[in-house]
Amino acid sequence: MSKLLFFVYSEDPETRSAASQAARATGRVEFVSEISDLVALQEILATAQIDGLYVDLSERSEELLELLESLPSPRPALILGGSNQAPPVLLRAMRLQPLDFLVEPTAAALAPHLESIASSAVARNPRRKDHRSVLAVAGSKGGVGTTFVACELASSLQQLGHRVVVVDLNLRLGDAALYFDLKPPYTLADVAKKGMALDKTFLNTAIATHLCGVRVLSGPSEVQDIGMIGANHVERALELLREDFEWIVLDLPYAWDDICLRALNLVDQILLVTHTDVPALKHTKQQLELLERFGAPADQVRVIVNRFDRSGTLTAKELSEFLEREPDLLIPADDAVASQCVNLGKLLRDVGRGGRIEEAIHQLADLSCQWVLGEAAKPRERLSLLSRMRQYVKRN
Ligand SMILES: Nc1ncnc2c1ncn2[C@@H]1O[C@H](COP(=O)(O)OP(=O)(O)O)[C@@H](O)[C@H]1O
Ligand SMILES: [Mg+2]
Repeated sequence: MSKLLFFVYSEDPETRSAASQAARATGRVEFVSEISDLVALQEILATAQIDGLYVDLSERSEELLELLESLPSPRPALILGGSNQAPPVLLRAMRLQPLDFLVEPTAAALAPHLESIASSAVARNPRRKDHRSVLAVAGSKGGVGTTFVACELASSLQQLGHRVVVVDLNLRLGDAALYFDLKPPYTLADVAKKGMALDKTFLNTAIATHLCGVRVLSGPSEVQDIGMIGANHVERALELLREDFEWIVLDLPYAWDDICLRALNLVDQILLVTHTDVPALKHTKQQLELLERFGAPADQVRVIVNRFDRSGTLTAKELSEFLEREPDLLIPADDAVASQCVNLGKLLRDVGRGGRIEEAIHQLADLSCQWVLGEAAKPRERLSLLSRMRQYVKRN
């Protein structure tokens, strides 16, 4: 049975930590995130597809109840609690049909509920069981936005309710963790040290978790550790990650070494990110030729033109002529939004909601589903914060 994305909301740090420890102790959750402020809760409920939620109604119960009542169905499974026992609060809480009302969320009390959430999570999202896909994102040269696209694509796939891990294969100067503002205590070097004895338990502790739920296996932090990472270590890690994640997004360096080539053998789709300048496009053509020589099927290789500027020197038509193929997607340039993301370690979902780049990245996530899952993958709707706010306001 798959594990759960479970969130804990409380304004009280002790309750937050007790509830999340209790949830972890049940062994049923893959990821518990603690949230302490209402705006963050609102944002998470609007963007992430979470399996279950514990909400402590002791403080700001009125606002919390309004927020929970405004959630469209199917709602995530709710477990409510807290010290506010006022009859109107309890009555409204019960109308939300929570699995339970726990004044103290202990592991013993949470366990049976998490068990039942786990069974229904699989039923709600059958894709979760049956697809495991690896996407390699590779740039034509440094600075074209490979890491940015890889991380944002991961975030967008996660917003569709999928479990996603980013693996940074830039062994020198990898920066995927930075894009998520994470400082992982473990890296691929620690994974390599385990050799073939690597197991899921260790791997799970080695991958860092962003608040949105995306996981990140970062590259080594020490230059001297690069040499100890071999292609077989990466293959073993990918094999184990495939068991737990619907999507593995590889952030590849533009110069492919043995590790990259062996990893490319295992991927379902290769997304070549490029720019509208001649050197970048030339390198993309070389990468396309190389992949063709290696026997990569044409429908596994895609070209993404990033930072496309309609007023730039090359038109979309000239681009296609140069590449001798249509690009699969054009991602517009938006320096203000992108630099805000990079410099603040934030995702588009935090700074660029509804913007042009985010729209293109969502399109890329939908296309990735179609490329991997075929026609069966209909684009799914992500509720924007704005539309959720509108619903919220309309009710009041
Ligand atoms: N669509 C875009 N519009 C504007 N700037 C972008 C866009 N995509 C990426 N960037 C910027 O390009 C720079 C390099 O991105 P990065 O992903 O680190 O490149 P790479 O991994 O290819 O070396 C970053 O500063 C990022 O903000
Ligand atoms: Mg990069």
